[in-house]
Amino acid sequence: MSRILDVQSIVAGYGEANVLTNVSIYADKAEVVSIVGANGAGKTTLISTLAGVIKPRSGEVYFQGERITDMPAHERPQKMLAMVPEGGRLFPFMTVLENLKLGAFPERARSGFNQRLEEIFDIFSILRERRGQLAGHLSGGERQMCAIARAMMSRPALLMLDEPSVGLSPVMTERVFETIRSLATRDNLTVLLVEQNVGEALDISDRGYVIDHGSIAMTGLSSELKDNPQVQGAYMGL
Ligand SMILES: Nc1ncnc2c1ncn2[C@@H]1O[C@H](COP(=O)(O)OP(=O)(O)OP(=O)(O)O)[C@@H](O)[C@H]1O
Ligand SMILES: [Mg+2]
Repeated sequence: MSRILDVQSIVAGYGEANVLTNVSIYADKAEVVSIVGANGAGKTTLISTLAGVIKPRSGEVYFQGERITDMPAHERPQKMLAMVPEGGRLFPFMTVLENLKLGAFPERARSGFNQRLEEIFDIFSILRERRGQLAGHLSGGERQMCAIARAMMSRPALLMLDEPSVGLSPVMTERVFETIRSLATRDNLTVLLVEQNVGEALDISDRGYVIDHGSIAMTGLSSELKDNPQVQGAYMGL
């Protein structure tokens, strides 16, 4: 199995304060890996560090065998690493199609744009219908789908999602999660899924990490974590 992401002993934070104290995680090809934890645990800080938005104070990040610890954020999509930030951050006054076009900006995604667009519309059929509509007029679920689709336009090898279920109904959450799972399976895509919706995230992922106060408290197969009484008690309200 080929290693897509290898994160070694990351220390990172804001100003003087460290948020992540010693975080090591990895993800292999076509794996869905969830990162779960409470508010303020450091999930967004971790994903922002992997996207290059935050510089780690120490530790290393390897992506497809290449050291990318110091690579600027804007170069990472070229390298097939894509992130969907919390809330999706679409351009609300642009149409769905214009937002999707922006996702295809890396050199390698520009050729074959139309074919890729059709593939994406086959997966996210609602976006085909809404292609001419302003992104700001989409429902919460449609917006999240559009944000994921935009990231997928760049043909990533690794897709990182920061709490895609925020603000979505249980039904819509399930639909988004099913879509994420099927992308991994059919596109051989590796997914890093940050979630507070612990039970559902573990349902669709292969492995998981529990992050607590900036360090990895537990890791294992998602099925094992889901059966773990500590995880159930602390994060699943059981
Ligand atoms: N820009 C920032 N400047 C200073 N401190 C920050 C900043 N962003 C986050 N923090 C702090 O870092 C810690 C971790 O925050 P982070 O956003 O990574 O948590 P999280 O696990 O994503 O939480 P949530 O589930 O609420 O999104 C928190 O104590 C938070 O207050
Ligand atoms: Mg967060």
